[in-house]
Amino acid sequence: MTDLGFDGRVAVVTGAGGGLGREYARLLASRGARVVVNDTGGSTAGEGVDQGPAESVAREIRDEGGEAWADTNSVATPEGGQAVIRSALDAYGRVDIVVNNAGILCDAPFHDMTAELLEPVFDVHLKGAFFVTRPAWNVMREQGYGRVVNTISAAGVLGTANKSNYGAAKAGLVGLTRVLAAEGTTHGIKVNAVAPIALTRMLTQSLTKPEATKAGAEQRADPTRNAMTVERMTSFVDRLDPALVAPAVAYLAHEECPVSGEMYTVGAGHVARYFIGRTNGYFNPDLSMEDVRDHFAEIREESGYTVPRGSGEEISQLFRAASG
Ligand code: NAI
Repeated sequence: MTDLGFDGRVAVVTGAGGGLGREYARLLASRGARVVVNDTGGSTAGEGVDQGPAESVAREIRDEGGEAWADTNSVATPEGGQAVIRSALDAYGRVDIVVNNAGILCDAPFHDMTAELLEPVFDVHLKGAFFVTRPAWNVMREQGYGRVVNTISAAGVLGTANKSNYGAAKAGLVGLTRVLAAEGTTHGIKVNAVAPIALTRMLTQSLTKPEATKAGAEQRADPTRNAMTVERMTSFVDRLDPALVAPAVAYLAHEECPVSGEMYTVGAGHVARYFIGRTNGYFNPDLSMEDVRDHFAEIREESGYTVPRGSGEEISQLFRAASG
């Protein structure tokens, strides 16, 4: 089997001035991609701007023999997203790969969550992916080829306390991924999503900050909280090297990527797939509320589930069930 390369490809990696994005950019560049290293260089909460991180990663890639261009536009506005893609076109004349990775955290328990904490998180994660991918999409459609990798999170797919803004934005990216996958099919564009688990400044903040807050105390007192405590997690974090997430992202960004509209969870060298299953369910043409109560176990029964590839496939399943 030959090694996988990206010769001739141009990749845009947002939020690549550190953490996971830096590893994605370095791996893509080491395999021959020309890479736009985008990052505003602010704090984990998105405050401030600093050209340093994007420039330093671009320099690091060039020092390693790769090709990279630093870009410090914010993904959080339509103009910023356009400017990021314009950087790729001006520097390298095309764009084949977009990795929407930029992110911030503004955690709070839901009873303290405000619009001021919601909006910036939506702006960077959900709208940011929209604003960057939208101008790239036109280019990809015209060239009949593209790869988009969105960054989701266990917080959005499975749920995590104190992250209602972040979880909602990440779950929004699941919908964006699946809809774009459906639209990209006839244009050679594949769109997938990765939920990373890696020791970066963002995970460090998630692990440490809640413990110092009232929300953290509530979390610790919550018997439903995941059995993986912060203490146990702390002894494990050394294995959560962000470089071990990059191979899965790079494969999904490669020409050989065999799937679209799918979600993968990746950390510590482990790669697994999240999927949306549909139980066989219960059918009654005269359905009443009591029928739902009496058949709830059957409705929830997981054996024999299916994994619809799109909403059309689900409608076909419903027609079949309703037609007896
Ligand atoms: P990080 O904080 O090291 O990286 C995020 C980068 O995005 C930062 O360099 C930041 O400056 C940049 N950024 C923020 N706002 C921006 C904007 N408006 N425009 C351009 N760049 C901007 O954190 P990490 O962990 O590397 O996060 C990368 C992605 O992975 C994020 O989307 C995050 O939500 C996601 N993620 C990370 C997990 C982890 O375990 N580290 C878990 C689940 C998801």
